[in-house]
Amino acid sequence: MKGVILISGSGSNLQSIIDNTAKIDLDIQAVISNKEEAFGLKRAKIENIPTHVLNHTQFPTREAFDQQLSQIIDQYNPDIIILAGFMRILTAGFTRKYVGKILNIHPSLLPKFQGLNTHQRALDAGENEHGVSIHFVTDELDGGPIIAQSRIQVLTNDTAESLAKRVLTEEHKLFPKVIHCFAQGRLSLKDNHVILDNQCL
Ligand code: GAR
Repeated sequence: MKGVILISGSGSNLQSIIDNTAKIDLDIQAVISNKEEAFGLKRAKIENIPTHVLNHTQFPTREAFDQQLSQIIDQYNPDIIILAGFMRILTAGFTRKYVGKILNIHPSLLPKFQGLNTHQRALDAGENEHGVSIHFVTDELDGGPIIAQSRIQVLTNDTAESLAKRVLTEEHKLFPKVIHCFAQGRLSLKDNHVILDNQCL
């Protein structure tokens, strides 16, 4: 299965996917970042994966950015587009073009805490549980159909940083598994509903 991975930052999820590519039958064709300084680009280069930087500040509109992004992605004709910490809102035109092929990882138990600062917001809300969600991307921000979640307990002395660390550990385990399900044809999106063979997780 051919995949393109979009990042904006550290790329620890990218690394967990890279480390599992053989197991999950994924050929990473390219890594694209909207930030030149994203550490994930270095991780990709070490693995000789082609990289692209598309600086969103140099585009007049979201549409123009997404059009260019789409052109780069289409060069690789990927089966899957993986948002691994990609911190840009995508236009409906873009998400509709690739519907059923784009997966996103989000650090909360969606539908709770869409958007940013999820760990602090979970603490502020007095949540006992927190975690990560992986979902298909639709034109609803952080609102596409949920594929899988992993939960952790919130401890009394937790900070946003300690929560983020434990959630990331779960992210690194869950994302490769979900991508593997997709590669095996055991995960798809039909009429805005997730079709998943849970045994593959
Ligand atoms: C991860 O926690 C991911 O869930 C989150 O960004 C972080 C990226 O870390 N994604 C979002 O918040 C998307 N809305 P990484 O660069 O180390 O993989």
